Amino acid sequence: MSTSLKTLRATLASVLQFAPLETNAVKRRLRRIAGVSDFRKVAKRRLPGGVFDYIDGGAEDERTLAANSEAFERVTFRPRVLRGVGDIDVSGRVLGQPMAIPFVMAPTGFTRIADPQGELAVARAAQRANIPYTLSTLGTRSIEEVRTGAPDARLWFQVYAWRDRELVADMVRRAAACKYEAIVLTVDTAVFGRRERDLRRGFSLPPTIGPGTLIDGVLHPEWTWSFLRSEPIRFANVVGAGVGDGSSPVDLAGYINSQFEPSLSWCDVEWLRSLWSGPIIVKGIQTVADAEIAADAGVEAIALSNHGGRQLDGAPAIFDLVAPVADAVGGRIEIICDGGIRRGSDIVKAMAAGATACMGGRAYLYALAAAGEAGVDQLLAIWHEDIRRTLALLGVSSIAELDNDVLGPPRTNS
Ligand code: LAC
Repeated sequence: MSTSLKTLRATLASVLQFAPLETNAVKRRLRRIAGVSDFRKVAKRRLPGGVFDYIDGGAEDERTLAANSEAFERVTFRPRVLRGVGDIDVSGRVLGQPMAIPFVMAPTGFTRIADPQGELAVARAAQRANIPYTLSTLGTRSIEEVRTGAPDARLWFQVYAWRDRELVADMVRRAAACKYEAIVLTVDTAVFGRRERDLRRGFSLPPTIGPGTLIDGVLHPEWTWSFLRSEPIRFANVVGAGVGDGSSPVDLAGYINSQFEPSLSWCDVEWLRSLWSGPIIVKGIQTVADAEIAADAGVEAIALSNHGGRQLDGAPAIFDLVAPVADAVGGRIEIICDGGIRRGSDIVKAMAAGATACMGGRAYLYALAAAGEAGVDQLLAIWHEDIRRTLALLGVSSIAELDNDVLGPPRTNS
């Protein structure tokens, strides 16, 4: 062999490196996913358009939806150096109990449209990651199924005020019997937001396969096959309650406007207290004034939330509320920041601004739709690592030590 051939062979041997062939399709997919925007892209490819738009979309011009994440994009950090960050603690606390990272899985309706396992997959991932999971009243797995599926998880149950109050009382009793830790009362849905993507598509829940959606179904055979093969999607917590459980598909706006109580008021928070002795979280607070009323009302926590930009377009970005609300009531009530979180560094930003914990739904739905339960595991692992890295690069050793000293002036040119 000539010297040049020998050199070529030696060079090739030193630079060629083939990763072992991954035979599992989900693992192969996950290898190429680095963060939420990748999960979203894969979810968009895999889900029928109507299902993706229901998850991805917001109200009207989607300005509040965009503002929620833009508010995080504007934040700048003030990194400090040479601070000995060899040992970092990323854990948080909410409702007085520890959690592996300061993040709570938000309630999301109809989770089985993203993946047949639905709420069970998310609750199991939350249990493994040691963070709380919130089951929605409009879940597609019941209070009891989720407890059985995730026996050791910190479970919270979200309630809407139905016109049928006995139905709410019954669900709260079921949550207590299944050892749920807290009730999350959603208060931003007096009437339903106008989701124009859903209107244009004539989207119903459960999704239907009819003349309008047939092509969509054919173009997404994997989703369609798993949807047809798994048990029918039902609004599992209200099966048998006479309010419509998805056995015949509904248009969600019509359903919510006919079933939910628009005259909900602070008196109903007192009513909830009479039913439930554990912590109550009021979700959907969007002003300092209402945060003060919630603190006076004696609830344990508020979730600053505009329902992921799905209700009132023009409502404020959630991150922007954290500091003023923390200044006003931070000593009296726990403050959960729900809206726009796409990275672990966003969680760090919210905690530095004064949040007790963060909450989010869309990001995990993208992960679930992209790669099922393993996708949710990967998302939480990415955020765990994001938080650790961000703290290290900020020169801060723990979540508990974060304060607004790490935040610089907001970026104005974006
Ligand atoms: C939604 C309700 C179900 O945002 O929470 O679609």
